[in-house]
Amino acid sequence: MALILEGKSLAFKKEEDLKKKLANIKDKIAFLIIQIGKDKSTEVYVNQKIKKSKNLGFLPIYKNFTEDAKEEEIINFIKEEQKREDIYGVICEQPIPKKFNSLKIIESIDKEKDLDCLTPDNLGRLLWDEVIFYPATPKAIIDLLENYEISTEGKRVLVISRSIIIGKPLILMLLRKGKRGDATVICAHSKTKELKELTKIADIIVTAVGKPNFLTSEMVKEESIIIDCGINVVEKEGKKFIVGDADYQQLLDKVKAITPVPGGVGALTTINLLENLFLSYERKKGI
Ligand SMILES: NC(=O)c1ccc[n+]([C@@H]2O[C@H](COP(=O)([O-])OP(=O)(O)OC[C@H]3O[C@@H](n4cnc5c(N)ncnc54)[C@H](OP(=O)(O)O)[C@@H]3O)[C@@H](O)[C@H]2O)c1
Repeated sequence: MALILEGKSLAFKKEEDLKKKLANIKDKIAFLIIQIGKDKSTEVYVNQKIKKSKNLGFLPIYKNFTEDAKEEEIINFIKEEQKREDIYGVICEQPIPKKFNSLKIIESIDKEKDLDCLTPDNLGRLLWDEVIFYPATPKAIIDLLENYEISTEGKRVLVISRSIIIGKPLILMLLRKGKRGDATVICAHSKTKELKELTKIADIIVTAVGKPNFLTSEMVKEESIIIDCGINVVEKEGKKFIVGDADYQQLLDKVKAITPVPGGVGALTTINLLENLFLSYERKKGI
């Protein structure tokens, strides 16, 4: 049976560390969460962020713009609110509805408060490995690899995603020298032909496609390590469940190691975002 790469206990440790740090300060650390439109999965993520951040003692400020909002209105809101002394971070939830110019909205976020690492400045910094923040989900993947002492050096790592929140930044992180980098990175996406040929030769497979049972056991080799970022809601016998992209039960009997869903990568994403928030506070205060 595969080693289960679980993220929950690491997330718990990170939470405890943050709690201790927060106990020593009197300032209120507020941050903005902006959602545009009413996407159901985004609402789930937003609620998780609000709940977890409040529990730890942060102050989330949530603003939901309707799809009818004007782009300028959203941009002005971000520009004005982030000037506040007590606001140390800004998150603008993805996906932003297609009618908006996402880049224009994201560009209005101050790079020092861009907790998701989405501004062109911060994404460009990833190329230099001179970051202000690492993006939360790619960082969660690296954290898990580090925690289980899984080396990426010289390994063929297949990233099935080219999204701006997972695939692209993760690829840059895996290409860094040292630090769970030095990987031979292969990227696949919806236009990739013969995906199975790539999954078969990969030592580590990161899947972030958003399709249940997308990665099956006959696609992978026995020694492979599977990192599943997918969060998919499926219905079975009238009940709703969250599953990843991987056919977990089948793969569990075949591969060397695999992340569960839930409790794997996803368990670390929110806490990584909140670590970025605290980092922003520390920088501003010169701590
Ligand atoms: N664990 C976490 O903390 C976390 C955080 C964020 C998101 N997620 C989850 O991760 C998944 C992806 O999220 P996202 O926002 O990155 O989604 P996204 O922007 O839609 O990206 C999905 C990626 O999968 C690729 N893809 C789709 N069908 C494919 C196929 N048949 N073969 C190969 N590649 C295919 C897409 O290719 P194209 O670029 O060609 O379309 C795209 O690059 C979702 O389930 C989401 O809920 C998890």
